[in-house]
Amino acid sequence: METNFTMHPDCAEILIGPEELQKKVKELGKILTEEYRGKDLIVLGLLKGSFVFMSDLVRAMDLDLDVEFMVVSSYGASTQSSGNIKINLDLKADLTGKHVLIVEDILDTGRTLYNIRDIIRLRGPESVKICTLLDKPARRKTDIKADFVGFTVEDKFIIGYGLDYAEKYRNLPYIGVLRPEIYQ
Ligand code: IMP
Ligand code: MG
Repeated sequence: METNFTMHPDCAEILIGPEELQKKVKELGKILTEEYRGKDLIVLGLLKGSFVFMSDLVRAMDLDLDVEFMVVSSYGASTQSSGNIKINLDLKADLTGKHVLIVEDILDTGRTLYNIRDIIRLRGPESVKICTLLDKPARRKTDIKADFVGFTVEDKFIIGYGLDYAEKYRNLPYIGVLRPEIYQ
């Protein structure tokens, strides 16, 4: 795997390198181009985690589309309640009759996407689908599956390519596994 980065913190082990990421994004872009051809599409990124993946993904989609973002945070992670999502910034676009593709960095417990998908569905779109770069099924707490998945990962803490630990490492050009000594 490629390791010639000047920014290669010794707190992470590389899991998916830049070339593998770009290859996967191109594959997803092709699939999504076919899926949404001729449809009125809004690509909705959940910030902050999706910003790097989203910017690569929309450039791999050969379509007319609108880009929107929502800033959401989850809290009360120990509860099973479906109301524990906070929308810090909402999108203004009218979703009536539109096809919405929600783009997420990682599907973990699933609480965030479970809630956001419900909120979006109430706004009258023609369809709502989910594209996540990473899927960590081992930690799922809700009945949710992404429609499009980049990579399935083990139950480890992931950083880079948009994903953070305490707001750091989002700009790493690869996906890494944070060494447990850093957060334990
Ligand atoms: P949920 O548990 O599926 O609701 O995931 C909520 C959010 O937690 C994701 O959008 C990520 O921002 C964050 N998250 C979950 N797992 C990881 C990880 O391994 N690294 C960094 N962020 C994560
Ligand atoms: Mg996050």
